[in-house]
Amino acid sequence: MFDSFEELEKELENCNKCKLCKNRNNIVLGCGNKNAKVMFIGEGPGADEDAQGIPFVGKAGKLMDQAFKGVGINREDVYIANIVKCRPPMNRNPEQDEVNACLDYLRSQVMIVKPEIIVLLGSVALKAILGKDYSITASRGKWIEKKGIKYMPTFHPAALLRDETKKISFWKDLKEVKKYM
Ligand code: URA
Repeated sequence: MFDSFEELEKELENCNKCKLCKNRNNIVLGCGNKNAKVMFIGEGPGADEDAQGIPFVGKAGKLMDQAFKGVGINREDVYIANIVKCRPPMNRNPEQDEVNACLDYLRSQVMIVKPEIIVLLGSVALKAILGKDYSITASRGKWIEKKGIKYMPTFHPAALLRDETKKISFWKDLKEVKKYM
């Protein structure tokens, strides 16, 4: 575990704990307010994120920004991170060994930021954080409290690009989160 972002960044610089290190251009640690009350956790970087080293800057990220704007959340006020910090090839889901190798970095981020609320974006984040028994269809939109943190599972913004009808639920879940900000 790491006590500061400086330590984390230093350790990550040469990370080769899993095979995702082979093709990365940039490690995508996270962005936003390091003292945020609300943290968002996605799956892993895509091509745009890998190119820029910043989470959620591609198509899905732009859609999330629109939703933030719609419900009055400032991207600068929250902290945004991913389950894995390096891009999985062809944007496939991260594999279990990759998730396991990377999870301590995220645990450290949570310990340093100390969010009261964590928004889990999609099934990969939900299962990696709360466990394999959780399904996104059954859990989305429902608060789950564990060890003093309130979790809000919701759809991954990329899912909204594939199915527009999910947008209503996503907006609703963000509005619910905004109530506590
Ligand atoms: N999808 C994610 O899960 N994370 C990103 O940073 C970008 C797209």
